[in-house]
Amino acid sequence: MRLQGRIAAITGGALGIGRATARLFAAEGATVALGDVEMNGAETVAREITDGGGRAIAIRVDVGDAGQVQGFVDRIVADFGRLDVMFANAGIAHSAPFLDHPEAQWHRVLRVNLTGVFLCCQAAARQMVRQGGGRIVTTASINGFRGVENLVGYNAAKAGVIELTKTMAVELAKHHITVNAIAPAQIDTRLTRTLPEEARERRVQRIPMGRFGDVDEVARAALFLVSDDASYVTGHTLAVDGGYLAGGLWS
Ligand SMILES: NC(=O)c1ccc[n+]([C@@H]2O[C@H](COP(=O)([O-])OP(=O)(O)OC[C@H]3O[C@@H](n4cnc5c(N)ncnc54)[C@H](O)[C@@H]3O)[C@@H](O)[C@H]2O)c1
Repeated sequence: MRLQGRIAAITGGALGIGRATARLFAAEGATVALGDVEMNGAETVAREITDGGGRAIAIRVDVGDAGQVQGFVDRIVADFGRLDVMFANAGIAHSAPFLDHPEAQWHRVLRVNLTGVFLCCQAAARQMVRQGGGRIVTTASINGFRGVENLVGYNAAKAGVIELTKTMAVELAKHHITVNAIAPAQIDTRLTRTLPEEARERRVQRIPMGRFGDVDEVARAALFLVSDDASYVTGHTLAVDGGYLAGGLWS
């Protein structure tokens, strides 16, 4: 029970990595607030957790909307009195070659994947400063380090998340708030299930462990970063990637 008594917000909690992390945090004793645009999914996850004896609520939030993000944090504080953990994880992708990438999709991806992380972390950090501390984890990607083809907006946003995470870590350290990122490689979720088979195979070939990762493998890394075990870890991006970033060459 590494998160006993903690109040944790998780964006993108209805599906994939967010859902797995919500279940794990709840199993470790946290009360989890699932923020998502997909309310059916978020409510289902919250119900599964409460049916299992845990504590969870689902709250509708579009992370790209500053007013909704503030409302999300305000609701958590109103219901539970504090906010100890923010996992800014919600994300989307648009796949297109650079030369054809529509500007509208560039803005859509940046709004959710970068501005959304900024807004969620800022609203949470303001509350954590008042409380005297907290833990923030963002979801970046190995694409924040590598120019993976056909994902220019996504990659630029994830590179931005890595620098945003470092800057927040530096500025918030004096408030006893740690800020770290996780950088997953290919994880089996809705986001990657739509990839054509040939693109999936190419991605697997770039992973030394030779397989996609599982959502629970990412959730456990997030748990480490928000737990007391990571008390002196801040500004770090933890790759959860089966060795992807360690490899230098793509065949
Ligand atoms: N799956 C991978 O291979 C992979 C790899 C690296 C990084 N990531 C990142 O992990 C995070 C989670 O992705 P996933 O793979 O679990 O995908 P997913 O599609 O399974 O889940 C994403 C969740 O975010 C929610 N969401 C989307 N837009 C939102 C918005 N505007 N406001 C609130 N919620 C919103 C969705 O409804 C969904 O529940 C994303 O940031 C993604 O970029 C995923």
